[in-house]
Amino acid sequence: MHTLTIDLGDRSYPILIGRDLLTEQHLLPNVTHQIMVVTNETIAPNYLDQTLSALSAKDAQHVILPDGEQYKSTQTLDTIYEALLTHRFDRGCTLLALGGGVIGDMTGYAAASYQRGVNFVQVPTTLLAQVDSSVGGKTAVNHPLGKNMIGAFHQPKAVLADMSVLESLSDREFKAGLAEVIKYGFILDADFFEWLENNIDALLSRDSDAIAWAVRRSCEIKAQIVEADEHEHGQRALLNFGHTFGHAIEAAMGYGNWLHGEAISAGMVMALDMSARTGRMGGNTVQRGTHLLERAGLPIAPPQEMNPEQMHGYMARDKKVAAGQLKLILANAIGETEVCSDFSESDLFSTLSAFLD
Ligand code: NAD
Ligand code: GLY
Repeated sequence: MHTLTIDLGDRSYPILIGRDLLTEQHLLPNVTHQIMVVTNETIAPNYLDQTLSALSAKDAQHVILPDGEQYKSTQTLDTIYEALLTHRFDRGCTLLALGGGVIGDMTGYAAASYQRGVNFVQVPTTLLAQVDSSVGGKTAVNHPLGKNMIGAFHQPKAVLADMSVLESLSDREFKAGLAEVIKYGFILDADFFEWLENNIDALLSRDSDAIAWAVRRSCEIKAQIVEADEHEHGQRALLNFGHTFGHAIEAAMGYGNWLHGEAISAGMVMALDMSARTGRMGGNTVQRGTHLLERAGLPIAPPQEMNPEQMHGYMARDKKVAAGQLKLILANAIGETEVCSDFSESDLFSTLSAFLD
């Protein structure tokens, strides 16, 4: 097992990365009070009993939610609040998110808002959640008009990334997680990008050493960024590379139809294209980036049902719009990205039209 720490002063917390962690009872945080495990109908049959038995000494309850991005909504949050209130959970309670990014984001927001804030612990069960969403304290639900629009920053008390649980993950979901892993190479670490180029086949064949290193390096990079800029006033925005394009795809296609990682993959290719159009990088770098995503079995273009105006409409509602000005993360090279607003509408429309006309 490897332990990383997110250093945020008195809100610091550990990320435990290893195999069979869920069967090691002492690893689950030492919560002596009420604990509510929040999971979904797909994950519960495989991992709920195991988790509850590791918590057996405590007042543990659980709530099982429907599965899917389309349920990441204020309506589903009510189910969590109802379970907490029915069991008379008080301000000292802890919520434990057992699931992927959807469960983690929703449970985190329930924890941020229930009785004005209670503790929570992340037990991420997808690759995407282990390398990204469980770390850093962004919590949210979707609104029909925009992705992750209702949310809060609320850090967990611990993250327990048990890589054994990834064995039951489908290939499609695994690849979607790889999109966020590759993102770290693009934004900040050219050496890691090169490692991914050399090891993408090992990752796709689920080589456990390769996965362990990819999870660890991704969490290290995320930790470094969150420590420097917890509330996204600067550098943390780099983590949204490809996301403004990707969120538009997710919202336009109906949440859940394109997986988050798939939409982000197409979004990163579009961000690379725009980086080249605005003179930041050459075509070879665009091709290099696109090629790795393609080798990972990820989409490299948005859905052809969309049109440039529609995509632009969704992008204009993004959280990275400030005072009417859209900000995008663009790349100067592999491993070097920046937050940009010095592009014209016609630059953006050139990229949108190149992919969607
Ligand atoms: P997800 O939570 O929907 O999980 C994907 C699918 O895999 C679901 O059907 C789930 O039930 C199933 N599953 C989960 N664990 C499994 C396992 N071990 N075995 C078999 N099936 C399993 O999707 P995701 O990709 O984990 O997360 C996507 C969400 O994360 C999006 O809503 C996105 O906005 C959010 N996100 C948040 C952050 C953040 O910083 N908070 C970062 C990135 C993404
Ligand atoms: N996934 C984006 C962030 O955590 O900031």
